[in-house]
Amino acid sequence: MSNQRSISCGLDFCAVPDLNNCIFTANSSKYEFVFVPLIHPLYKREFVSGAAKSRNGPFTRPDLVLCSSDWNNLIIGKLSSHIKVDSRNFFIKKNSEEALNQEFALARHLGLVGVTFRLMGGIEQNGNLARIVSDKVTSTCTLQVWIQIPMENPVKQAYSYREQECSSVESTWEWWNAFRIICDYDRKVGIALIVSHDLPEQEEIDRWLGEPVRCLIFPTTIFITNKKGYPVLSKAHQTLVKRFSMLEVQFVLTGANRHQNIGYYHNYLEYLWKGCQINGPVERFARGYEDYLQCPLQPLMDNLESQTYEIFEKDPVKYTQYQTAIYQAILGIASKTEEDKNRKIVIMVVGAGRGPLVYASLNAAEMARQNIKVYAVEKNPNAVLTLQALERDVWGEKVTVVSCDMREWDAPEKADILVSELLGSFSDNELSPECLDGVQKFLKDDGISIPSSYTSYIAPVQSSKLYNEVRQCKDKEKHSLAHFETSYVVHLQNKYDIAKPQPLFTFKHPNKGIVIDNSRYEIKTFEVQQNCVLHGFSGYFDTVLYKDVTLSIEPSTHSPGMFSWFPIFFPIREPVQLKAGDEIVVHFWRQCSTKNVWYEWCISKPIPVAIHNPGGRSYTIGL
Ligand SMILES: C[S@@+](CC[C@H](N)C(=O)[O-])C[C@H]1O[C@@H](n2cnc3c(N)ncnc32)[C@H](O)[C@@H]1O
Repeated sequence: MSNQRSISCGLDFCAVPDLNNCIFTANSSKYEFVFVPLIHPLYKREFVSGAAKSRNGPFTRPDLVLCSSDWNNLIIGKLSSHIKVDSRNFFIKKNSEEALNQEFALARHLGLVGVTFRLMGGIEQNGNLARIVSDKVTSTCTLQVWIQIPMENPVKQAYSYREQECSSVESTWEWWNAFRIICDYDRKVGIALIVSHDLPEQEEIDRWLGEPVRCLIFPTTIFITNKKGYPVLSKAHQTLVKRFSMLEVQFVLTGANRHQNIGYYHNYLEYLWKGCQINGPVERFARGYEDYLQCPLQPLMDNLESQTYEIFEKDPVKYTQYQTAIYQAILGIASKTEEDKNRKIVIMVVGAGRGPLVYASLNAAEMARQNIKVYAVEKNPNAVLTLQALERDVWGEKVTVVSCDMREWDAPEKADILVSELLGSFSDNELSPECLDGVQKFLKDDGISIPSSYTSYIAPVQSSKLYNEVRQCKDKEKHSLAHFETSYVVHLQNKYDIAKPQPLFTFKHPNKGIVIDNSRYEIKTFEVQQNCVLHGFSGYFDTVLYKDVTLSIEPSTHSPGMFSWFPIFFPIREPVQLKAGDEIVVHFWRQCSTKNVWYEWCISKPIPVAIHNPGGRSYTIGL
């Protein structure tokens, strides 16, 4: 069974004398929805003064032409293009405001999912429009506004046909950025991005990927005709579709039909879309969780549920890597003790869960033809039940199950290998350092810890989607900023990486420090390539299990096919506007008390931003 997302592609109509006919035309060519003017484009109303002020009769078609489910599902209403609420001419401005009110009211009455209009310039020419849109979206519960924005500034496009160099023009992203700030980042305000013939720089396209792009509008003029006479896109435009296919994006086709059948464009986009859908284990596992905020697990303080263990155990990569690491460690130890062939290597699996790392140890020993003795230590009494059943029915005397907290265990002997997987998305955030420090006294002096080290990474990100998601989280019992002072596990998709991740905190095991101190403080500096907005920091980790056997969720080294960990996200309270060339200087602390561990973070450049989570007031990890 395929769970791939199917394409959703709309058709834009510039005038619609018969709405049913227009829907029939679109549907018969497989288009799922239509962009239609709410009112005939030539029908200007005069509300303030003028001959038409007292004109009687309907100003547009009645709602009865469609049933409400069709209005709800098939129609995006186009606001009239003659509306100029920012005009300096009093009459035009007033008239436009009335017309806009009328069209919004009509859209609400019809129950449309959204309305759309084209933004023609920066905020200096659109401040009043932004205010009205903001007012409308806050006062309606569901109506969305899709703002059509060209990918490239039309002035820049025009210059591409001239010999003169184009002096710098404002990028259309700046138009959008200012507009949505005025609308206070309302999640109902999204982008209908008009794809340009000449695509902007890669970096600029990346920046759009961090924005709430609802649809990509493709003018028919962008398509080229292939040898068989069908419309196709250039390689660059195909790549663009691929990049956006990770997001919940729809398509809209606009402009005159330049081929035999308007359906050919849909067929081609559908073909491209299907080709872009990656359906590997990670994608299948993560589908539906895109940009969805989850509270990080606390397996030390809480007991994980059966279902959670079941999900872990499905990972096709993690346990194979552990098995390889254990196998190599066994070979290393065995080569040192060759004279004593009968010696049993002692392996302690600490935090054994339902036993996958015990299996990995037994398999590794079998491959290495080595006798082993395994202790499976687990503090979750429910998981211990599973371990005990496996001990009795499958593993026999090779494995001893120990039901206790590893930090309090009094082991009967010392281990050659200590195997654990107590890692969170930020490596140390499930308190692996504290747990392993507590049990390492039972590791022989030359014993091996798997993992032997792990490192967290952070990177600045722009994502209005995540910013909005965090804003929605409210907890009456907590500090008013608590949701901005908490980290979230999230399958990051709708984001722009402002700079590459940098390593933050590293822990090594066994910890041979004279004083064991797991608190940390690091300062990291990131360079900003282009104007953008900082909404927080993404977090990742990598780990060395043994020698060159590693696991990683850091994007540049991500272990292929591994889905056990999504990245983590540390938000910041207020978006920070960044300029190309700025430096972001972030300070990160790992703080420890006898009861808890927590992170604190702040920014000192380009502007200082207050400490988040001081003293762990909003979020701690229980020891
Ligand atoms: C992330 S799970 C990994 C489970 C299993 N090893 C696997 O890879 O599927 C971590 C496990 O360690 C256990 N654990 C965490 N802290 C522990 C502690 N201090 N003592 C014993 N078990 C602990 C948790 O209950 C949980 O079962």
